[in-house]
Amino acid sequence: MRVLKTILKSISYIAVAGVLALAVYVFLMSGIFHKPESFLETGTYQPAGGRILVVGGTRGTGLEIVKKLNAMGEEVVVTVRLTSNTEALDELGIETVVMDALIPEQVQAAVTEGNFSAIVSTLGTSARDLPVRSNPLKSLIFGQTKMDPNKRPDFVGNRSLVDAASAAGIERFVLVTVIGAGDSADAVPWPARRGHNDVTPLKTKAEDYLRDSGLAYTIIRPGGLGPRNLAATGTARLTEDAKSFSYMGRGDLAELTIAALGDPATSGKTYTSYDPSRLYLWDLFID
Ligand SMILES: NC(=O)c1ccc[n+]([C@@H]2O[C@H](COP(=O)([O-])OP(=O)(O)OC[C@H]3O[C@@H](n4cnc5c(N)ncnc54)[C@H](OP(=O)(O)O)[C@@H]3O)[C@@H](O)[C@H]2O)c1
Repeated sequence: MRVLKTILKSISYIAVAGVLALAVYVFLMSGIFHKPESFLETGTYQPAGGRILVVGGTRGTGLEIVKKLNAMGEEVVVTVRLTSNTEALDELGIETVVMDALIPEQVQAAVTEGNFSAIVSTLGTSARDLPVRSNPLKSLIFGQTKMDPNKRPDFVGNRSLVDAASAAGIERFVLVTVIGAGDSADAVPWPARRGHNDVTPLKTKAEDYLRDSGLAYTIIRPGGLGPRNLAATGTARLTEDAKSFSYMGRGDLAELTIAALGDPATSGKTYTSYDPSRLYLWDLFID
């Protein structure tokens, strides 16, 4: 009986410690420690004045951007890989061009032959391309799965795109990266830093390469994007305050990316996308 009591007591201690640890983790993963004070006031959307190439538009944020631009009457072309699921694009009747961002010749051809006025890149390493599927708990404990950076499109793919855009005379380039890149390193909640230490340096290199290219660039850094069906809040904004952090739905991020694309004042600027309605980790799961 005594042994049983000790076991039950130990279990309850462990459970309480677990709940406390989880609460501390969730608290530390929040964006409440710094509040940005100035935000971009976006004006009326100014059309790109020609076809827009969306790279990464098969799903996620890129697909949201494609849907919105298409609904606005913009002519959008999306790059797809031979392995991409194009169902959503086909349903919308969106023109596609085959391009693997890891193959510079394909990037060159897709960009040069399309007569584009702007490029929007949400290119990121697809989870299915990782050698082992990323698991938030595993990546927290062990860091992300090591993968050859040349097999991830985050830097090399975007570098090829920037080179091709320069060669083709396409001035406007909007790039989505991540909070943690460049001078926003300290904005990442510290429990999350280890999990992103594979990819963030690649995003930083992509940002730097674009900044040095002479193109009319805008860089947008989102925090964690959460579940793909997360509802838009409509409260997200862009700030140049690189210490800011929040979570964000892909619909809101798409809205901000389009606003930046259509606002010449954002050229040469790097923004953090910030949603005051999604400061806590649980805001991603409770709508
Ligand atoms: N997920 C997050 O929580 C989070 C947080 C902060 C920032 N970000 C960044 O935000 C951006 C959008 O993220 P997301 O989760 O919405 O996008 P996503 O669903 O991961 O989509 C990635 C896109 O990149 C394409 N892609 C990957 N490798 C490619 C290659 N070699 N050649 C051509 N296309 C390739 C994918 O095409 P396929 O369909 O062919 O795979 C897909 O369209 C990414 O840059 C991501 O790194 C994400």
